[in-house]
Amino acid sequence: MLIAPGSNFTRQSLELARLLGAGLIDVERKIFPDGEMYVRLKSLPGDGADTVIVANSMYPNQDSSLLETLLLLNAAQKNGAKSIILVTPYLAYMRQDKIFLHGEPVSAEVVLNILSHGINKGVVVDVHNPSLLEGKPWINMLVSDILVEGALKHVSKPVVIAPDKGALERAKYAAAKLGLDFDYLIKERDRVTGEVSIKPRSISVENRDVVIVDDIISTGGTLAEAARFLISQGARRVVVVATHGLLVGGALRKIRDAGISRVVLADTLGLIHEDPILEYVNIAPRLREAVEEVLSR
Ligand code: R5P
Repeated sequence: MLIAPGSNFTRQSLELARLLGAGLIDVERKIFPDGEMYVRLKSLPGDGADTVIVANSMYPNQDSSLLETLLLLNAAQKNGAKSIILVTPYLAYMRQDKIFLHGEPVSAEVVLNILSHGINKGVVVDVHNPSLLEGKPWINMLVSDILVEGALKHVSKPVVIAPDKGALERAKYAAAKLGLDFDYLIKERDRVTGEVSIKPRSISVENRDVVIVDDIISTGGTLAEAARFLISQGARRVVVVATHGLLVGGALRKIRDAGISRVVLADTLGLIHEDPILEYVNIAPRLREAVEEVLSR
């Protein structure tokens, strides 16, 4: 078994290769003078390999990472790989999972369709809307349990809260595994201005620590609003766990200003943000489990 690492998952691919006992393919990359991308699987044996795992994450540089992943997949397909597993811990474009305003595309469908071509199985970590994977050759790995477990050292007997109904399964999954209470908030986003508002729900967080669980922190607006609301309801300490910490546009400042004391993220991206409020959880063991599950079928 060999791993072809994309630029956004080179560091984590080393660990995954070690856990799986797989070899790493040396990938040559360059940009042609006209700006086009070139990749070559330099150390792929002439007769291919039984299984090639193409491993890449799609943040940062979503568009070029997507193209790089497609080129790596094609290179594996054309050069004798007998089976191909695509490991993409973070898939970009997944939040445009339906038509919100007339005239829009379903971007998530476009990305999943092109990536599904020619693979035996895809592995994604905590995709925004898992129903998108129905009927497609993909496995969705939840990691909210290990993230909440990582947050437990900062809180005492917390209630696990999803900031919206869409995140409820993540909160429920972690809470069930760890024997904690859980609930969710009602969030609304203005599709034109992007403004988020939280509506109260009948949960008692008074004098309790809270762990908010979400899939993505982009601008931090969702979590900041949720934290403010929970603190206004009497929550003692508010800690956040999220699978994909993009943290754009002053997200950390917003998070701090909202009274959040800790942020635990999964190591799913091609970058690590350095900040004292942040800590990362290694998900390579979970990826190994997913790959082994695929191989055992
Ligand atoms: C939305 O449904 C997602 O689950 C996240 O809550 C959202 O994308 C986070 O974005 P931001 O950090 O910009 O509020």
